[in-house]
Amino acid sequence: MAVGIFDSGLGGLTVLSAVQKRLPEVDFVYLADSAHAPYGVRTPDDIYNLTTAAVQRLFDAGCDLVILACNTASAAALRRMQESWVPSDKRVLGVFVPMIEALTERQWGDNSPPREVSVNHVALFATPATVSSRAFQRELAFRAIGVDVEAQACGGVVDAIEDGDMILAEALVQSHVDALKRKMPDPQAAILGCTHYPLMQEAFQKALGTQVKVFSQADLVAESLADYLKRHPEMHGKGQAACLTTGDPNRVSNRATQFMRRALTFTAA
Ligand code: DGL
Repeated sequence: MAVGIFDSGLGGLTVLSAVQKRLPEVDFVYLADSAHAPYGVRTPDDIYNLTTAAVQRLFDAGCDLVILACNTASAAALRRMQESWVPSDKRVLGVFVPMIEALTERQWGDNSPPREVSVNHVALFATPATVSSRAFQRELAFRAIGVDVEAQACGGVVDAIEDGDMILAEALVQSHVDALKRKMPDPQAAILGCTHYPLMQEAFQKALGTQVKVFSQADLVAESLADYLKRHPEMHGKGQAACLTTGDPNRVSNRATQFMRRALTFTAA
């Protein structure tokens, strides 16, 4: 049995790399819905419909567990999917909770009441759909009190990354960080709330300054999957990975290889 990893495009590869490194014996199937990326400018209904279609494709490929390595899908569609769509013999997990647990210094599954934590001023960088869902603030409020979150919708960054235009992506990161700092001059921590953004982590850190602790999701998600699989050892396989795309496999393979600095070959989903 393989674990499915889903993103609208290339961003989830940051999560795929981290989980492969942490769990070398697990088989993965990655699906990039490149034909419909970016999701971050779409309506919640649209994101729900695209995400359920993609996850169904991963179920059909033999995945009983799928990770939405996409904050936009996790924010706009996951709860609705879990409430009324996911079959009882399958699991779909998001990428928000591991990051919020790290920020609030909690262990996996610690459901104790919200409490004060060491960071009070947090900058959230995410897609427009993730920001307007307020899912991050909702999950945070279950675990922490007294945390001031300023969210910046980073329009254009995902498109620039998917197009391979890193000069534009860097310029956009700088201008989004400037806009955030006008609202919150001294954040203590910054959350990269889109799985594409670790590809621009240096640009975020440079624009924010070294005093700001930047949280990015890949390693946190890998740790939490490792924890989950300890309780589900039947999911261990041979360490193989397949990459599928709804877009042009050649184009997506080239971009993916360029970003991840290792050969990645996508086939048609
Ligand atoms: N990588 C995604 C995320 O984490 C999707 C971005 C998009 O498609 O707009 O939100």
